[in-house]
Amino acid sequence: MAKKVILTGDRPTGKLHLGHYVGSLKNRVILQNTGDYDVYVFIADLQALTDNARNPEKIRNSLIEVALDYLSVGLDPQKTTIFVQSQIPELTELTVHYMNLVTLARLKRNPTIKTEIKERGFGEAVPVGFLAYPISQAADITAFNANLIPVGDDQLPLIEQCKEIVHSFNSIYGNVLVEPEAMLSQNKACVRLPGIDGKAKMSKSLGNCIYLSDDKETVKNKVMSMYTDPNHVKVEDPGNVENNTVFTYLDAFATDEHFKKYLNEYNNLDELKEHYRRGGLGDVKVKKFLINVLEDILEPIREKRSYYEKHIDLVYDMLSEGSKKARIVAQETLKKVRDAIGINYFN
Ligand code: TRP
Repeated sequence: MAKKVILTGDRPTGKLHLGHYVGSLKNRVILQNTGDYDVYVFIADLQALTDNARNPEKIRNSLIEVALDYLSVGLDPQKTTIFVQSQIPELTELTVHYMNLVTLARLKRNPTIKTEIKERGFGEAVPVGFLAYPISQAADITAFNANLIPVGDDQLPLIEQCKEIVHSFNSIYGNVLVEPEAMLSQNKACVRLPGIDGKAKMSKSLGNCIYLSDDKETVKNKVMSMYTDPNHVKVEDPGNVENNTVFTYLDAFATDEHFKKYLNEYNNLDELKEHYRRGGLGDVKVKKFLINVLEDILEPIREKRSYYEKHIDLVYDMLSEGSKKARIVAQETLKKVRDAIGINYFN
């Protein structure tokens, strides 16, 4: 039986951070290494351009940063097809066909788009390409017959939109497109990692990120400045582990192994939380532990990154090869779509 297809992508608008790692990248590497799936990971530069048309340099520079992040967390081009959205023109034609199946009202109702339009202050001056990017995202997904889309919960309305397009297309033109399914992370702390300021989401625009490429000193300073329980003033005070960013991060990253290695007076996170709630455990001690945990994860990532930074040509070759491979699949899908619509006049 054919393997299930997993596909996901990232907009290249900056370097990737711990939120990306724990919410998505780590899981991609695990899925890749099972060998049970055909995995596609791509850099959604066209989507990034929909609200950065006047700033293409930013997208161009971020493209290579994201590629470096991919390789440094262990995405392996031998196992995963890594490609660049703009290098697959078939995606653009698929988008045009799908545009006829979606109403303006439906796009304006999309909760993700609504929020993003508000965040960017676009109002009615929203670029058409931006408003319509859910359609292009449906092209990304269907071009590769993707079954499973590992994404954060903010992307659910986009997957929903894609499913609607698949249904419309298939009911009008016959069964051509594969219906995708979102694949959400199980660990709640991982679904949306808060920023170091305790705000709901780690995001570049809020300036509250720990980047995968941050050096050791930067990570240390960021953790030391992290938001904890504002009522936990003295070490003796009982503390709250809910809405306490340091503990949310430990939920996301700490394993029992980390306790053995760095804080063996506790067997696990439950015991540490218990002590914090009771009082008598200071923030600095918990933060130092978190620094060790994060360094355990980040140090190998940094090492790989520095190798590829010295071999940038390899990174571009990898993207080019991946894009060639991906394009063949998208071409097959586009051919089926054209045949189904009946615009294959000359063959
Ligand atoms: N919208 C995604 C993001 O904001 C990027 C993306 C583009 C994507 N096309 C996709 C994700 C297809 C999953 C599947 O990061």
